[in-house]
Amino acid sequence: MAKITAGVATSHVPAIGVAMDLGKTQEAYWSPLFEGYEFSKQWISKEKPDVIFLVYNDHATAFDMKFIPTFAIGCAENFGIADEGWGRRPVPDVIGHPDLAWHISQSVIQDDFDLTLINEMEVDHGLSVPLSLMFGQPETWPCRVIPFAVNVVLYPPPSGRRCYNIGKAIRRAVESFDEDLNVQIWGTGGMSHQLQGPRAGLINSKFDADFMERLVNDPESLADMPHVEYMRDAGAEGVELVMWLIMRGALDEKVNELHRFYHVPASNTAVGHLILENSC
Ligand code: DHB
Ligand code: FE
Repeated sequence: MAKITAGVATSHVPAIGVAMDLGKTQEAYWSPLFEGYEFSKQWISKEKPDVIFLVYNDHATAFDMKFIPTFAIGCAENFGIADEGWGRRPVPDVIGHPDLAWHISQSVIQDDFDLTLINEMEVDHGLSVPLSLMFGQPETWPCRVIPFAVNVVLYPPPSGRRCYNIGKAIRRAVESFDEDLNVQIWGTGGMSHQLQGPRAGLINSKFDADFMERLVNDPESLADMPHVEYMRDAGAEGVELVMWLIMRGALDEKVNELHRFYHVPASNTAVGHLILENSC
């Protein structure tokens, strides 16, 4: 059977992708950030996941004001890399896993969560930057990826509790797929940041530290945090963090924390990163 073995959380700042694409990772501004992912790159090269269920948000790239799904699952064979205004990032296309994606869709929808099924989509920095951080710059990505896009861009995003619970439904779905697959689930976006308005540049390291600690050790209480708290304490874009709860919901109640990293700033954002392993 397929198994969710581990969860990864990471921010997805677009400038990180640019720094990698332009060969700037050794510059003084960037090197402390990339050092925080050295452990992760080693770890994942040994773990060799077959599939990553990658929870991310689209930033008005594949979706615009015409259609905004709350939860959208990518069922295609292939996902191109979007041009977000500066040309396509020089990274490989993302190869999907249609059989597993359709299985998850069937299971999660019949488990009472509504998903939008996507058969054609380009993916933006929300998905490509986490892959770059974890895998570096390979010619092809070393595993398949199922994109799972969550609306955190236009109000109303889903609640933390709904995200946490859909994570549990995703786990039930994956672990009823009749093929031996090593599946990881990633939750991306965050941490504290606000990109616009008078509070642009807001970072709240105390909030971020507390969020990471509770995500690991007390996710139940974190799931009840209302949107207004994310917005007030972590900035308007800090609400991306509800996506980390999807990842956490798909893991055991008690997890092994393998790695925790926090760095400020990358562009306008506090970067947080966790690797959590299921114990059984
Ligand atoms: C930045 C962060 C994001 O999460 C994003 O989607 C776009 C920009 C930033 O810090 O620049
Ligand atoms: Fe973002």
